[in-house]
Amino acid sequence: MPLSPQMEVIIRQNGEAAAGLAARIIARELRTNPHLVLGLATGQTMERVYRHLVRLHQTEKLDFSLCRTFNLDEYVGLFPSDPNSYRYYMNNHLFRHVNVDPRNTYLPNGLAADLDEECRRYEATIQRFGGIDLQLLGIGKAGHIGFNEPLSALRSRTRVKALTPVTLKQNAASFGGEATMPRRAITMGVGTILECRRCLLLATGSSKAKVIAQAVEGPITSMISASALQLHPRSTVIVDEEAAANLAEKEYYRWIFDNEPEWEEYR
Ligand code: F6R
Repeated sequence: MPLSPQMEVIIRQNGEAAAGLAARIIARELRTNPHLVLGLATGQTMERVYRHLVRLHQTEKLDFSLCRTFNLDEYVGLFPSDPNSYRYYMNNHLFRHVNVDPRNTYLPNGLAADLDEECRRYEATIQRFGGIDLQLLGIGKAGHIGFNEPLSALRSRTRVKALTPVTLKQNAASFGGEATMPRRAITMGVGTILECRRCLLLATGSSKAKVIAQAVEGPITSMISASALQLHPRSTVIVDEEAAANLAEKEYYRWIFDNEPEWEEYR
């Protein structure tokens, strides 16, 4: 596939089709390179993607045995056995249903005694395996990718980040309220994400329509971390009709997906 001169936006009918396409792109990359270093995200949007990947493993023998995975983020202070930890989420939604070697699955350790050292160690581990080939991303209502909250430097690296009120509100439900939620997380930085060879952002539902328009068609700004993907040589944004609602250039994006040869196998 050629390098994209710009961010590519693909609009699918609904959330299921959007997640299915994201899973097929991941599967294609994994089949091309079984040693893929795959960057993963958590959250509600990704649950559908993982369901599709598990199905592809079961029905088409999609093989995870040689790949390595690096998650974007993890809360500070939660044990892996805590159902709200991202380690638990990943085990539950993907890892235990496919043939990935658990030793090849990496998440930042939010329980490390020295969190700054843990952040440096995480970056070094990514480097040790040659960098991330494909990074899956969601987007928060405040425009974050990973937990890169507004004003995260565009060159930021893996570090501890305090969560904004918008994010606390967005994620509070599963904790039974904001009061019991961790207020900090370790996250890959925007700079770390921009170094991944390919970025794939998935957003579905009307609650993401405003922020998607800002990230894709607005100015590049640290107030909307996802807008930094406009600087990336190969980023693809997949949205459903609801999340695409505020985009000005929808017809152009549709034309590209329907006509450009690189998308032929996915149409
Ligand atoms: C989580 C992460 C976050 C989420 C974002 C969207 O690992 O990186 O950036 O992708 O908060 O979350 P949902 O999908 O729950 O709306």
